[in-house]
Amino acid sequence: MKLGFVGAGRIGSTTAFTCIQHLDLDEVVLVDIVEDLAVGEAMDLSHAIVGLDKYAKIVGGSDYSLLKGCDLIVVSAGLARKPGMTRLDLAKKNAEIMRSVAKNIVKHASDSKILVVTNPLDVMTYVMWKETGKDRREVFGMGSLLDTVRLKERIIALGGKPRRIFMMGEHGDSMFCPKSLAEVEGEVDLDRAIEETRGVAMEVIKRKGATFYAPAVCIYRMVKAVLEDTKEEIPTSVVLQGEYGISDVALGVPAILGRDGVERIVEYDLTDEEKAMLMKSAEILKERLKELGY
Ligand code: 2OP
Repeated sequence: MKLGFVGAGRIGSTTAFTCIQHLDLDEVVLVDIVEDLAVGEAMDLSHAIVGLDKYAKIVGGSDYSLLKGCDLIVVSAGLARKPGMTRLDLAKKNAEIMRSVAKNIVKHASDSKILVVTNPLDVMTYVMWKETGKDRREVFGMGSLLDTVRLKERIIALGGKPRRIFMMGEHGDSMFCPKSLAEVEGEVDLDRAIEETRGVAMEVIKRKGATFYAPAVCIYRMVKAVLEDTKEEIPTSVVLQGEYGISDVALGVPAILGRDGVERIVEYDLTDEEKAMLMKSAEILKERLKELGY
């Protein structure tokens, strides 16, 4: 199994570190425009894996041809939002980066599946899908799983036990939880937990400048589902083509992940209110894509 990373920053490197600990990989490659960063991370990770009494070939560099033969590539390349930068400025810059990454992946690793992590997540997932021309099953994004994990954390912090619950829609302000499907033990103010979940990434960013441990663990879970063909149901950003009455936009929905990528989108019966919330996410995201010329 060969796992690739485009972007060797804190998200890419922390995810690589998580993956080498828990998966049996033959080869890991890190590609970054900052060549020294990719090489340095690969060296550090090579030492770490031997320290774990395991071995995988781990290489880094700025040359996309390193990705040849990858089964799955995690794309975290891109800018993070800087003070004074609008959401649209960020989307424009990162869409440019996605276009260049897409071209290079098609050139060097056209059979690989692609897991997008760059923000704005659902918009970048769509751009990557469109620009690679790949089957939508093979290009998907990590967003709603992280939102789900954070919702569970909030429920636990408020004294409850999450049994079965997930977030859907945009990885952003319009994310929502289909409460009609939720199973939670204990008397918890679920609306409060959901509201806190929407703002909690910013609370982390305000304090430490970025989020990376929680995203890395969530990316790892999706990588594992694909590489080990677990068929786990995971909230995943994927381009919809009629599911939930929505088409031609990527957003978070429950999906079965396995060797082929998104093997199936799970369509639950939502209440009218929940359908309206999903539709709202879709409209917001389509508007953003339009601003980018899609
Ligand atoms: C997160 O939710 C910033 O999208 C990133 O942690």
